[in-house]
Parts: sequence; C-alpha cells; structure tokens
Amino acid sequence: MTLTSPPGIHRGLAGVVVDTTEISTVVEDTNSLTYRGYPVQELAAHRSFEEVAHLLWYGELPDPGQLRDFRARERALRPLDRTTTELLARLPETCHPMDVLRTAVSLFGAEDPAEEDASPAAHRIKSLNLLAKLPTVVAADQRRRHGLPPIPPDAGLGWAENVFHMCTGSVPEPEVVRCFEISMVLYAEHSFNASTFTARVVTSTLSDLYSAVTAAIGALKGPLHGGANEAVMHMLEEIGDPDRAAGWLDAALADRRKIMGFGHRVYRHGDSRVPIMQDALDRLVARSGDPDTVRLAALHAALRRAMLERKGIHPNLDYPAGLAYHLMGFDTPAFTPLFVLSRITGWTAHITEQLAHNALIRPLASYAGPAQRPLPA
Ligand code: ACO
Repeated sequence: MTLTSPPGIHRGLAGVVVDTTEISTVVEDTNSLTYRGYPVQELAAHRSFEEVAHLLWYGELPDPGQLRDFRARERALRPLDRTTTELLARLPETCHPMDVLRTAVSLFGAEDPAEEDASPAAHRIKSLNLLAKLPTVVAADQRRRHGLPPIPPDAGLGWAENVFHMCTGSVPEPEVVRCFEISMVLYAEHSFNASTFTARVVTSTLSDLYSAVTAAIGALKGPLHGGANEAVMHMLEEIGDPDRAAGWLDAALADRRKIMGFGHRVYRHGDSRVPIMQDALDRLVARSGDPDTVRLAALHAALRRAMLERKGIHPNLDYPAGLAYHLMGFDTPAFTPLFVLSRITGWTAHITEQLAHNALIRPLASYAGPAQRPLPA
C-alpha cells in the first residue's frame, strides 16, 4: 500500500531527513549511488571489497601500503575461538542462519573485554574483527547443515576467495569470485536504510557496537529489507517455469502480494546498483551450459518484464543478487547472511559517525488511543 499519513505524520519516516551523513548518498540527477563521493559502479568495476571497506571506515581508499596492512590484519582475525565454534554449533539447525549470525555477534560482544570502549580506534578494531570473523561463522553454519565439519580460513586467500574456500573447500573460477565481490561492493552501504538506521538508533542511546550490529541484523532479516534476496529465490522456485511468470504475477498482484526483489523506497526509476549486478549475473549464466540455469535466467527475465509491464516497478539489488548467489552454489537461507558480510562495513561506519555527533533518536507519536479515563471499579 502506498504510504498515506495524516497531516504532520510521516509513516515509515518516508521523506524525513533526520541527520547528515558523509558516508554515502544517492545522486538523483544521475541515479547513482556514491560511497564517500565515488560512484559505486566504478568501485565495483575497479576495486576490491577490502578497499571499499577501508574507504567506508577511513573516508579514503587505501594506498598500496595501507591496503597490505589492512589485508594482513583482516586475514589474521578470521579464525573463531573454540568456545564460539562450540556454542554456535549447539544452536538448532531449524533456526534461520540469520539467527546464528545475530547470536554470534552478541557472543563476540560478551567476550570482548573492550565492549564498552566507544573510541573511534576501538570501533575500527571491532569492525575489522567482525568483517574477518563473520564469514567464518556463515561458512561453518552452512556446512553443519549438510553434516560437514567447518573448514578453517586460509590466510593465503583474499577475503572473497576465502568465503568460497570455507564454504566448499575450493575457490571457483575468478569470474565467479568477481561476481561475488561485485555483490559485496554493491551491498556495502546505502545511507539511512532500515538496518543502518536501526544501528544508529541503538548507538544514539550510547549502547555498544555489538548491540547496534545485533539489532541491525534483526532489521535486515525481514523480507521487506535484506530478507528479500532469499525470498526472490523461493519465489522463482514457486513459479518454476518462464511461461508461468506472467500468469503467476497477475494472480499474486490480485492477492495484493508484494513481489520480492522489486520496488524501493528511495529509487523510483530503478535501483542504480541493478545494471552492474545484472551484468555480473548474465556473465555467470553465459558461462554455464546447465539447462536449469538457462531456465532460471529466462524465468528471471520474464518476471522482470511482466512486473515492468503490469506495475511499472523496477527490480532492486536483491533481484539479481538472489539468483546470482544460487548460481554460485550458496544455500538459499544463506543469502541474507551474505548481505550481512558486506553491510557490516556500512553499519559500523554509521555507528562511528553517529557517535561523532550524537543526538538521542527519539521521535514523537500522535496518540490515537482512548481519551484519559478512570480505572473500572
Ligand atoms: N510488489 C508489488 N507492489 C509493489 C512492490 C512490490 N515489490 N513495491 C511497491 N509496490 C507498490 C505498492 O503496492 C504500492 O502500490 P499502490 O499505490 O497501488 O498501493 C506502490 O508500489 C508504492 O509502494 P510502497 O509499498 O508504498 O513503497 P515503499 O517505499 O513503502 O516500499 C519496499 C518499498 C518495502 C522495498 C517495497 O517496494 C517492497 O515491499 N518490495 C518488496 C521487498 C523487497 O524487495 N525488499 C528489498 C528492498 S531493497 C534492499 O533491501 C536491498
């Protein structure tokens, strides 16, 4: 439903500007997203995810020496200690992988003697620690659901290659790793989206970084936000065949269902990240001769066309990313955790920025309940 609010009320905070940020913006004229001023398209094409993490946290791309140092520190932080590994392995396999990730971050906070240290230097150490360790959590969790033991991280591999290594024991062709890395760059940051804003709300109370990230993971899990990349895959599986796409869509719209991976609060004429991700996805499809891949790609394109015809609504990043993760071999419930592996950079950059000029975030509500009345006798 389109947001309609009584005068003076902004349901969903639609259109409300609550603060300034120096981290990212959508440039309306060019429909382009920039991180610290750099167009995300150019970052995705020419820079690694580690360089983008550095950019978001430090405000500038690293020089070669800084990048070497950043990579060395990240690689050294990847392993999990035994307590964490054992505790996470005890969580029921029926729980969603996002619950495992949320619990892991909570555990990291409980184990960190410097949990309350809110200095920018301490925040950078904690942020790097999460960037390094969260892939280890996601990979171990995906493997245990297949009855497989965890694979330790390999400090000889780049951040993106190591994710595949820990999930499967091997690193795929560079084209596949590149596609994954592009998705990580594109997912890294998006201003005051729901999960980032959640992190800023928690931070504004002067709570700690781990609490803010735990809350942000909870916000990202929902299908109207990060959970949409997983939901896209379920939807494609439900439709099954390209010839069914238009009919399925008509029925779904008649039922007033939200079509996952379409629409965006900020972009009304198309998500600027989609063309880059779609190109990367097309390359993945082209290199596979598998008939099932061809079927899924045709269905993906047919639904996109039908949605544009019926509603004039464009896909968001979750639409190509969801199918791309499937083709890369990740389990569908791991898709939103993959989003976390990237967005941890944006969240933590915002947490630091919020603290730099903090104001408690505490909006007002217009009361619509019963007038004041006496308790019944
Ligand atoms: N499917 C069907 N209709 C849609 C969709 C959709 N995905 N998105 C928007 N619309 C329709 C609405 O029903 C509404 O139509 P109406 O005026 O006839 O009632 C109109 O477009 C405006 O939509 P709103 O819901 O008011 O837009 P809002 O800004 O609140 O919602 C949102 C944005 C939540 C992303 C929405 O588009 C949606 O639910 N999309 C599906 C979930 C999704 O893909 N989320 C991922 C977001 S991007 C990300 O997190 C990386």
